[in-house]
Amino acid sequence: MTVLKIDGLTQYFSGLCALSDFNIKLKAGELVGLIGPNGAGKTTVFNLVSGFYQPTKGDIFFLDQPIDGLKPHQVTSRGVARTFQNIRLWNEMTVLENIMLAQHASLGYGIRDLFFRTGRYQRREQKIRNLAMELLEIFKLTELAEEKPKNLSYGLQRKVEIARALSSRPQLLLLDEPAAGLPSQDVVELIELIHWIHREFKIAIWMIEHQMKVVMSLCSRITVIDFGVVIAEGTPEEIQHHPGVIKAYLGDDQL
Ligand SMILES: Nc1ncnc2c1ncn2[C@@H]1O[C@H](COP(=O)(O)OP(=O)(O)O)[C@@H](O)[C@H]1O
Ligand SMILES: [Mg+2]
Repeated sequence: MTVLKIDGLTQYFSGLCALSDFNIKLKAGELVGLIGPNGAGKTTVFNLVSGFYQPTKGDIFFLDQPIDGLKPHQVTSRGVARTFQNIRLWNEMTVLENIMLAQHASLGYGIRDLFFRTGRYQRREQKIRNLAMELLEIFKLTELAEEKPKNLSYGLQRKVEIARALSSRPQLLLLDEPAAGLPSQDVVELIELIHWIHREFKIAIWMIEHQMKVVMSLCSRITVIDFGVVIAEGTPEEIQHHPGVIKAYLGDDQL
């Protein structure tokens, strides 16, 4: 089953072509990578898929339905969740509230319920709290439920952000440079966590990474872009030895 299908996706910013004729198909349960040097257009791909940008040209299908043109919260409620290159958590709320609030898209009650605290609201609220607590337990974050994210280490903030993304019960999880800024010990732990999520939740994961070694150990196949254009596709082994990729990363110690 195809989860995500992208045809001819192109994005211009004023005169700049950030992405040109990008195509990919992701099958259910796949774990694939998108890599490339800084400014290659990787985040642009995720911003387009998750509804943050509207494409200049091209089509995006999720479970055979077109999703280009939808708003970010609509894309989330269809089953696509994401994390951000620069962690985006609500710092004035607790870890638990961050995860509960992310389930907004599927709340199922209106503003009236919220004001009058109807039975429906209370039942939903309890369900949302239970799921959030369950996720915190799975991620070994229970003790931090009442903490503010800003008081946590960068590695723990990443974990909270991933837990929050999973709280909308996605079928496709987009991770934008989850290892960025992490010390090497935390990177090892993160790789294990992503492996575990993939096995346990049986969802498709598409991850952007700048550090090749991270995707090498996780992904079954990798797409490489440079200046908005796909320059290689293949298994980690093929990518590592691809002359075009080596050239694009030349002088970059991340290879
Ligand atoms: N909202 C935007 N407005 C203008 N230019 C943008 C915008 N988003 C990205 N770009 C440009 O598009 C190119 C690709 O950016 P990005 O997708 O963030 O690259 P990557 O994630 O691979 O580092 C860069 O030149 C960047 O400056
Ligand atoms: Mg980026």
